[in-house]
Amino acid sequence: MNKILVTGGCGYIGSHTIVDLIQHGFEVISADNNSRSNASILDGVERITGKKIKNYLVDLCVFDDTHAVFQENPDIIGIIHFAAFKSVGESVEHPLRYFDNNINSLINILRCCEEFSIPNFVFSSSCTVYGNPDESPVTEETQTKLAESPYGYTKQMGEQIVQQTVNSNKIQSILLRYFNPVGAHNSIEIGELPIGKPANLVPAITQTAIGKLPQMQVFGNDYPTRDGSCVRDYIHVSDIAHAHTLALNYLIAQKNTRNCEVFNLGTGNGYTVLEVINTFEKVSETKLNYQISGRRAGDIVGIFANNEKAKQQLGWVPQFNLEDMMRTAWQWELKLKNLNQNK
Ligand code: WQD
Repeated sequence: MNKILVTGGCGYIGSHTIVDLIQHGFEVISADNNSRSNASILDGVERITGKKIKNYLVDLCVFDDTHAVFQENPDIIGIIHFAAFKSVGESVEHPLRYFDNNINSLINILRCCEEFSIPNFVFSSSCTVYGNPDESPVTEETQTKLAESPYGYTKQMGEQIVQQTVNSNKIQSILLRYFNPVGAHNSIEIGELPIGKPANLVPAITQTAIGKLPQMQVFGNDYPTRDGSCVRDYIHVSDIAHAHTLALNYLIAQKNTRNCEVFNLGTGNGYTVLEVINTFEKVSETKLNYQISGRRAGDIVGIFANNEKAKQQLGWVPQFNLEDMMRTAWQWELKLKNLNQNK
């Protein structure tokens, strides 16, 4: 079986991607130091797939420890690199922490990719590389602007590092630009596990609805949009996960025409914050306690994807709509509450 190394495999998108990879015939190992994740999520992966996933508890910023994983697994034929810090707010407060972690870990992985001649590399990027676009939908050719945060800047630098590195060797790579990943696996065995108070919209909604948070803030309703709140392209995490399997198969089949190709992963639909809240209330049959507050620093007005390239070239078609995203996110929050009550 084709063995894939998933870095950050204990994370939200990483764990969902491992499920999809296994269900499509890949063998998977994970490398994750659990600094921002919980290894227990791999128990959920095992309950879904029947496969026990080995996680190497290594800090990818330490080259020798990273190298040891590759020495122990000379049969790796592909890497999906998720491992990175991802909080916009935290990156503004601690930029050097983000540059050090996100860039040094990427460099170490790429050094090993080169040394062990691993032919296929998929990089976890983000729509944040577009900055505040003049218009949407954005295509992969839309001019990227200076990122609005150090986190976003590490994704822009990461894309450049991958592109420059693969130009000088035989690695074939794909950059996947996620829009806003939300929701949980249909089995409700895995989902998002935010650490501390959630910065992102959907966990803030579900934690408020379940009573973990007393009230949530809608950061601004005075933007030039349909209802004044910001527009984003929310995409189910399982749709994001499947795109990684398709991207790997695309590279393994050598269908790529360049050694570094970029794909947008969004539904192509933009929803406002208030529309997301309304959809959540409808699906969960609960009333959300929120208040309109001031704008959040660093927020862009709106963005959504043109996803035609991923559809045409990867054969990727998002399966989940906004109601599915809200329903699975809510079911996952209910599951977490039950698990905590039974502890
Ligand atoms: C969405 C909208 C907020 C919380 C960032 C990164 C992106 C990705 C996802 C990593 C905004 C509003 C939010 C709340 C609110 N990160 N909001 N109240 O900022 O679009 O994207 O996270 O993968 O790369 O840039 O996502 O969910 O934080 O915010 O009103 O309590 O919800 O203002 O308009 P964002 P988000």
